[in-house]
Amino acid sequence: MKIGIFFKLLVTYIIVIMMAITVLGALQMIFIQNYLTEAKQQELVIKSQDLAEVVKPLLIRGEDLHPVIISLNRADRSLGTEAWVIDKTGKLIATSEDHVHCEGDIERTDLEQLRGGVVSVRKGQSRYFDESVIRVAAPMLQGDEFIGAVILYTPVTGIKATFARMVDMYGLAALLSILLSGVVGFILSRYITRPLREVSNVAHSVAEGRFENRVDVKSNDELGQLGDAINHMIKRLSQYEAMRRDFVANVSHELRSPLTSIRGFVDAVAEGKSRDAEEQARYLAIVQKETHRLTKLVNELLEISRFDARESKFNMDFFPVEVVVNRAVASLKPQIEAKSVSIRKVLEKDIPLCYGDEDRIEQVIHNILENAVRYSEEGGSIIISVNRQNGEVVIEAVDNGPGIPREDLPRIWERFYRVDKARSRDQGGTGLGLAIVEEIIKKHGGRVFAESEPGKGAMIGFALPVI
Ligand SMILES: Nc1ncnc2c1ncn2[C@@H]1O[C@H](COP(=O)(O)OP(=O)(O)OP(=O)(O)O)[C@@H](O)[C@H]1O
Ligand SMILES: [Mg+2]
Repeated sequence: MKIGIFFKLLVTYIIVIMMAITVLGALQMIFIQNYLTEAKQQELVIKSQDLAEVVKPLLIRGEDLHPVIISLNRADRSLGTEAWVIDKTGKLIATSEDHVHCEGDIERTDLEQLRGGVVSVRKGQSRYFDESVIRVAAPMLQGDEFIGAVILYTPVTGIKATFARMVDMYGLAALLSILLSGVVGFILSRYITRPLREVSNVAHSVAEGRFENRVDVKSNDELGQLGDAINHMIKRLSQYEAMRRDFVANVSHELRSPLTSIRGFVDAVAEGKSRDAEEQARYLAIVQKETHRLTKLVNELLEISRFDARESKFNMDFFPVEVVVNRAVASLKPQIEAKSVSIRKVLEKDIPLCYGDEDRIEQVIHNILENAVRYSEEGGSIIISVNRQNGEVVIEAVDNGPGIPREDLPRIWERFYRVDKARSRDQGGTGLGLAIVEEIIKKHGGRVFAESEPGKGAMIGFALPVI
């Protein structure tokens, strides 16, 4: 992996550097060529006009122009500049050179331009040398009449040499850049791959069930974020793992006590240890109670596992919640009467229809009321109320039982959590009732809450959003 990223970075750098150098070089060469040509052209125009000033009176007087042209152009000859003079028909009348190549020859269009008194300029590539060349012709006028022209022709020297030097320079720059990008790429790839390798190591150890390792990436960029995300994920995974272990331990424990009890009594009867039919009946009643407990436990576990697997289906529809409250209260009649608690319903008028699974909401109300009855003292009183508050329908059950200690209050929604294990179990509780309540209400987009003043009672309820 390290080689991979390093190699990719290096290739990317080299491509970018090459592209930058090529573009820069091309632009610079164009610029330099233009600059040199322009400068040379200006120089030639001025020089040809000066020459024309000097030659014109001699031409008018009909003197031989050769010596003048040669002496005037002496200094420039060594730079390859040629000068010559033509008459009004374009015929050559004097030259500083042998005038072999005739590249600077005047054409008809140039002649017309010159007759109009305008300097004629031609630029191009030499047919004979690998150079750019410029040819300038300055007209000589007598009055308005065109009498001839001075022509200067010169190669633009230095362009090729400059180009050659630039190629060297850019080559060197490219070489240095590639070396440098190799170093930078190496460092950068280490910087990137180290955290990635660490993430992959930690991920492997998590896959093997070890949650104690954390990714140690402190950088403040995407890699740091990746590290944080992975660490967060490991934390959650380890929490889930702990929950799962607890759950299995709890389930085994909950299954064991009724099974032990059933086995004890069944063994006693089977081995003829019971004294009489009355005792047998008592044993049987206990076995029956424990079997009910087991069935309830298994049903609740199945329900919870369906929530966990997101398999539980809800029949969502609008329903009047008051009717559901009445049904839940009615279904608890035996327990209410057995404990002679009083139950009062306080139903606000014009409660909007609730949206949800009616049976599930009845189950929720049943669970909450069952707790209120179960944990109330003999003869206690319970109020179940339905209100509308800020876009929610709020249903709460208030009792005047022993209440819930402050430190236990947030935990009553946990699976298997019971404030007083022994007492709850005596009453047939498994500690799953409120956990199921919370799952159902969460699925409805609602919230659950609990308040209690220990010794004075508890208030447990939930709110459903009004749709
Ligand atoms: N109204 C209440 N008054 C006092 N304690 C309560 C009340 N409601 C719940 N609790 C406490 O919260 C715990 C959890 O309640 P939950 O309904 O989840 O379990 P449970 O009633 O023990 O068992 P299950 O509902 O599964 O039969 C109870 O064991 C009890 O200690
Ligand atoms: Mg309960």
